[in-house]
Order: sequence, then structure tokens, then C-alpha cells
Amino acid sequence: MSKSQLTRAIFPGTFDPITNGHLDLIERGARIFDELVVAVLRNPDKNPLFSLAERVEMLREVTASQENVSVATFDGLLVDFARQCGAAAILRGIRAISDYEYEMQMALMNRRLAPEVEVVFMMPAGKYTFVSSRLLKEVHLLGGEIDGLVPEIVLERLRAKVAAS
Ligand code: PNS
Repeated sequence: MSKSQLTRAIFPGTFDPITNGHLDLIERGARIFDELVVAVLRNPDKNPLFSLAERVEMLREVTASQENVSVATFDGLLVDFARQCGAAAILRGIRAISDYEYEMQMALMNRRLAPEVEVVFMMPAGKYTFVSSRLLKEVHLLGGEIDGLVPEIVLERLRAKVAAS
């Protein structure tokens, strides 16, 4: 790639729902890459709490002020989507050593499949190192308080889910 080209990266995930930890990484990624595409997996094995449309809507709302961030969905192999986007890198967050093994396996498999796409790991702010979508959903659905760990729109949507159940 010539130096004059823009460097695009993708930040893939399930985002069920987006947390402030994800948002922190999006902000960090958007500072070092020219363009960052948040890529939402369409058909995760996991049964998501939020529909694809809801996850995309929340992501678009919370990233609206960041001009070089866009939101897209993908299916199939991540590296195929990365190539389709013309992405030079895949951005992933590592919160703790426990994330490392899984992330390293994925990164090395992705590298084998698409050696030209670099995997870049970044750490979120320390205050988010314990935050995961799974844990936040569990705590909220059981009546615990998660203020400050998810964007306001996510909190509202979670409250609506609880009220509707
Ligand atoms: O938010 P998550 O669940 O940690 O994201 C995982 C994700 C979406 C990055 C991963 O499951 C993925 O890349 N899925 C697409 C299918 C794929 O390419 N699988 C091979 C990975 S080596």
C-alpha cells in the first residue's frame, strides 16, 4: 500500500449491546486510523438480546459525532469483509490476560487466511477492563445498576426490554 492511501481499519464484534469499553476503543481507533468501520456480525451463534437493527442503530447514534467512524454489518469470514472494505487492519480490544488466548488464536488464524490484513490490539481505559456486554446484560436484567458502563441510549433500551418482559 502506498503511503498516500488512507488507512482503514475495521472493529468487528457482536456489540450486544455496545458498552463504554467498546466506545473507548472506537475513540482510540479513530484517532490512529484514517477511517474506522465498526463491523457488526449478522448471525452470531449466540442468541443476541438486541436485534441486528437495534445494535446498528445504537452504534450509529453513539458514534454519530465521529466523522471517520462508520457502522456496517457482515456475515461469513471476517477477513473476507476486511478485504471487501479495503481494510489494512482489524482492531480488537484486549482487557486482560484472559482475553489474550482467544484473541491470539483468532488473530493468527486471520493472518493465515489474509496475511495482508494486520491485527492491531488496543487496551481500553483501565476503568473498563472488567466490562463485558454479557456481564452488563446479566447484572441489569437481575436488577443491578450499570450506570456509567454503557451509553445512555443502551441503558434506555435495556430498561425498555426489562419493562416489556
Ligand atoms: O464481540 P465478539 O463476539 O468478541 O466478536 C467476535 C468476532 C465477530 C470478531 C468473531 O466471532 C468473528 O470474526 N466472526 C466472523 C467469522 C470468522 O471470521 N471466524 C473466524 C475467526 S478466526
